[in-house]
Amino acid sequence: MSHDHLLELLKRHPDQFVSGAMMSQELKVSRTAVWKQIRKLEAAGYEIEASTKLGYRLVYSPDELSKEMLAGMRTAARFGQVVHYYEQVKSTQDSARELAESGAPEGTLVLAEEQTGGRGRMGRGWVSPQGKGIWMSMVMQPHVPIHCAPQLTLLTAVALCRSLRRMTGLPIGIKWPNDLLIRGKKISGILLESAAEDERLKYIVAGVGISVNLSEGDYPEELLAKATSLRIEAGQPFNRSEIVTQFLQEWETLYDLFLQEGFSAIAALWESLSVSIGQKVRLITPQGELEGTPVGLEESGAIRIERADGSLVAIFSAEMGEPLSRS
Ligand code: BTN
Repeated sequence: MSHDHLLELLKRHPDQFVSGAMMSQELKVSRTAVWKQIRKLEAAGYEIEASTKLGYRLVYSPDELSKEMLAGMRTAARFGQVVHYYEQVKSTQDSARELAESGAPEGTLVLAEEQTGGRGRMGRGWVSPQGKGIWMSMVMQPHVPIHCAPQLTLLTAVALCRSLRRMTGLPIGIKWPNDLLIRGKKISGILLESAAEDERLKYIVAGVGISVNLSEGDYPEELLAKATSLRIEAGQPFNRSEIVTQFLQEWETLYDLFLQEGFSAIAALWESLSVSIGQKVRLITPQGELEGTPVGLEESGAIRIERADGSLVAIFSAEMGEPLSRS
């Protein structure tokens, strides 16, 4: 028996439990064989509720995030023109870096259904289960000085926030520098890794992780208080290909604006979407800890912090804690 037959049977009974006895009878296999196939479907991203009394019920089927689907929906001119699609990779960052090293053009996109070694900022991991999220990395080759790389991180967060807000209607905001939050919980992270040669930016690999259709069971216990997904927050799943398509378009539009006019228009958009401005926080910087209230972005992409004594300081890189109190 293949798990296709089992899936067909579950799909024939939408929202209902199908008993293990009935399944093994219809499919002419043992109850143990049914259970093994259920486990395989779960590993492929399906969610199946199991009850000892009632049997099995299909709760969630992953949508398709294939190259073909994206090709049909694509609207951006350069971003995502070349797509490398994988069922499973260690990290899309590594795959995109290899492509960039071998001369892949700007806009080359790597997408994977699952990452076994997804990476986050500050050496952390990134939960990337099969068929539930968008795990992607894109090659960028902007002709800008290397110190402009942080601006591209902020630009990516703005593009993602704007497209996700539009598509989901959810109250998504940006926590400095580039975490997307809904009601204080993280739904997306951005990781930019750059390669330079003689002070010149050779390329950037922009990694974006969007927790689209994950359920609470997909997160380790210790992350549940801090992480969420669009599906958990909206109570409905979303089409991943559509999100990728819309995001690529928004991203390219803002990127072109940035290349033509510089960072100020992007900074204003970032500030309007930020949940960090005006919230007193503790920051852990490479130079030590400080407390203060973010009041705006610098042209450089650094965040301007006002301390209790009214003095201002620009921070380029830090770990920003939870809000201490409203100011
Ligand atoms: C963070 O907030 O810490 C950044 C998370 C970045 C995750 C994405 S998923 C696609 C790409 N591949 C990775 O290994 N990481 C990024």
